[in-house]
Parts: sequence; C-alpha cells; structure tokens
Amino acid sequence: KRMNRQATPLTGKKVIVTAGGTRERIDPVRFITNDSSGKMGYAIAEEMKRRGADVTLISAPTKLEVPAGVNLVPVLTTEDLADAVTKAFKQADILVMAAAVADFKPVNSADQKIKKTADNDQMTIKLTKTADILKQVAKLKQPGQITVGFAAETQNLLDNAQQKLVNKQLDLLIANDVSKPGVGFNGDTNQVTILQPDQAPIKTQLADKHVIAKQVVDQISQRVQKEG
Ligand code: CTP
Ligand code: CA
Repeated sequence: KRMNRQATPLTGKKVIVTAGGTRERIDPVRFITNDSSGKMGYAIAEEMKRRGADVTLISAPTKLEVPAGVNLVPVLTTEDLADAVTKAFKQADILVMAAAVADFKPVNSADQKIKKTADNDQMTIKLTKTADILKQVAKLKQPGQITVGFAAETQNLLDNAQQKLVNKQLDLLIANDVSKPGVGFNGDTNQVTILQPDQAPIKTQLADKHVIAKQVVDQISQRVQKEG
C-alpha cells in the first residue's frame, strides 16, 4: 500500500541513477568487466524513490531486483550507458553516477570465439580508452542541475577525489577507499567520504549500503534545498 508521505525537497525531482559495472565484449563468449555489484546505486535509487523522486535507474547487468516504482533502462557497454545518460540528462534535475564504468574497451571485438592454437601461447588484447561520461555531461550542465560522482580509490583518497570533483564539475563526490575491508565494490557495506566544493569533507561510518545511501541522499537533498 502506498503511504501518503509528506513532501521532501526531492519530491517530483527527476533523478537518474546509474549502477553496475559496464561490459566490453572481447568475443561472443567473453567480456571485460569489474567487481561492481550495483548495490550502492540500487540503494540510492530506492532511497530517492522513497523521498518522492521520479527515478530512472540506468543499469549495467546486476543480480539485484529493481526497487519498486523505479524505471529501469538496461545497458551493457560504456557506449550504451553514455548514450542513455546523455539522452536522459536533458530532462533531469539530478544525476548520480554510481556505475563502475570500464575505462578501456577492446579495440576490436571478434565476431567468432577466439581459439587457442598451437602457436599462440601468449595473446594480447589491445584496449582503447572509453569516453568519460561525467566529463561529457559537465558540458551539458544547466544551472540548477546537480551531478554526483563516485570515486573508487586505493590510495591518496582525498587528493584523488578532490581532483575528480573539480575535473568533472561535480556538486558532490562520494569517495570510497576500496582497499579497505568492507568498503566499496561488491559487499553489503560501505564507508564513504562525501566531498562538496564549498564544504568540509563528511566521513561516514562503515555501515550497510542502505544506511550510506540515506546519508548520501540527505546531502543531495540539502543541496537541492539550498539551490531552491
Ligand atoms: N565515470 C564516467 N565515465 C567513465 C569513467 C568513470 O562517467 N568513462 C564516472 C564514474 O561513474 C564515477 C566517476 O566517473 O562516478 C569516477 O570514476 P572513477 O573510476 O573513480 O574515476 P576515473 O575518472 O575513471 O579515473 P580512474 O579510474 O583513473 O581513477
Ligand atoms: Ca575509472
């Protein structure tokens, strides 16, 4: 049953959340991806929906159930994701890029399964850089639109994250130190540091991703309120 909730700063806002790890094909039976489970992005989509937002979840493959009332746009590759985000962003108030995007993809994806032969004891897959979706979106950004990025780091967390905040012209950057146990990729828990251009970093406790999602969405909600 749907409860009649009070309006929140996010009520009626058009929110795009991306989630999961993109897939880049090597051949018909193989692809390159990463350890992302999609859990953080799905938890954020669910929390946004709970607060009355109109949520579109652009998701690379995951094992997760789509939160009730959230619109799903399934994607596979970084290129698919880039197209879907660029299209949806025009009408959006908020973009949260929780997807773990492949930075490189094979230059060629083979039409047939690659065979091992007597003479290929080693083989090389040549990769080429993918487009940086958040950087592209930064160019389209209109006043009032809020963009939120994630940063997965294994060292120099704050410095690297601060650079991403500036380079990608983000309003918020959620940094995870994925070298720490229980943090970031794949697990049920996370610990993040939330960076914003005009505020001191906010460091959360290690907690379930649904708890972290609430804290992240609280900060986004406060920004929406400030921007009026
Ligand atoms: N991102 C993106 N397009 C890409 C790569 C990343 O939009 N091609 C987004 C991610 O969804 C995330 C943010 O950029 O919100 C930071 O991703 P991350 O992988 O931490 O940083 P990169 O800029 O890719 O740099 P690096 O992996 O070298 O640290
Ligand atoms: Ca990357």
